[in-house]
Amino acid sequence: MPRLPAPPLPKGLRPRPKPPGDDNGAGVADTLDPLEAGVTAVDWIDERTSLTPVGRWLLFRKVPRGVNWYYTLGSATLFAFLNQAVTGVFLAMYYRPDASGGAYESVRYITTDAFLGQFVRGMHKWGASVMIILIFLHMGRVFFFGAYKYPRELTWIIGVVLLILTLAMGFTGYLLPLDQRAYWATVVGVNINAGGPFIGPYLSNFLFGGADFGATTLSRFYAIHMLIIPGAIVALIGAHLYLVTKLGITAPPWLKAEPEKQFQPETDV
Ligand code: HEM
Repeated sequence: MPRLPAPPLPKGLRPRPKPPGDDNGAGVADTLDPLEAGVTAVDWIDERTSLTPVGRWLLFRKVPRGVNWYYTLGSATLFAFLNQAVTGVFLAMYYRPDASGGAYESVRYITTDAFLGQFVRGMHKWGASVMIILIFLHMGRVFFFGAYKYPRELTWIIGVVLLILTLAMGFTGYLLPLDQRAYWATVVGVNINAGGPFIGPYLSNFLFGGADFGATTLSRFYAIHMLIIPGAIVALIGAHLYLVTKLGITAPPWLKAEPEKQFQPETDV
């Protein structure tokens, strides 16, 4: 018996048009290989953001022949910084910048009572020294390989600011436990700054929050250590890595400038 054609579906119930490239009408769940799920998720983001070329620009770069372990020191410094950021966030969940005993007590609590507190504090404390050692080694590598020369002068200058900020992180962080050693080290350190030419007295006034160590000094160091310097470091690392990616990495100085031999041959990935 012939069937009457079905009445048209209301607009809200009609199937949505397929996006370009989706060839059959089967549901995604029927056709998707579980191994492809990750690829599909990346595709989904990429279709909306077009970020893939940026990732490719960042990661698939030509690297000169002869690069060696010394070239990993910059990334090692970056890793040390990320360790400081992650452990610092957890310490900040317990730390109290209270100069009337609360700061010392909160650090004591982290070290002796908080779950994994001693471990996280140790990672942060030793990580600070590790980062400073690595940044100097990275700077030494750049210097001895002549990588600071044209066109990488700006990468070097940003690096110098990063070095100063990293040392300032060490100085401001040292006060935070507010024990005797922290207090006196800070008094000595700020007074050394006060002896500097021209800006010395203004600098010490700014750091102490007055003529001498006072009620606001700890909050000031805390804000500098937690907010101002880390923010500046993140922005400057971004600029530093942008320049490293844009300009490429210097070949080791013992390689002769032979343009046709300078790069690794491309391989299929
Ligand atoms: C937070 C601190 C720093 C981080 C995270 C960092 C990170 C990096 C990374 C990942 C590279 C590429 C790989 C490498 O050459 O190791 C690099 C290259 C470079 N860095 Fe740094 N860096 C820092 C501090 C410094 C300092 C203190 C200087 C010098 C004063 C500096 C100068 C340079 C230069 C000139 C290059 C280009 C090297 C080349 O082209 O071969 N960086 N940095």
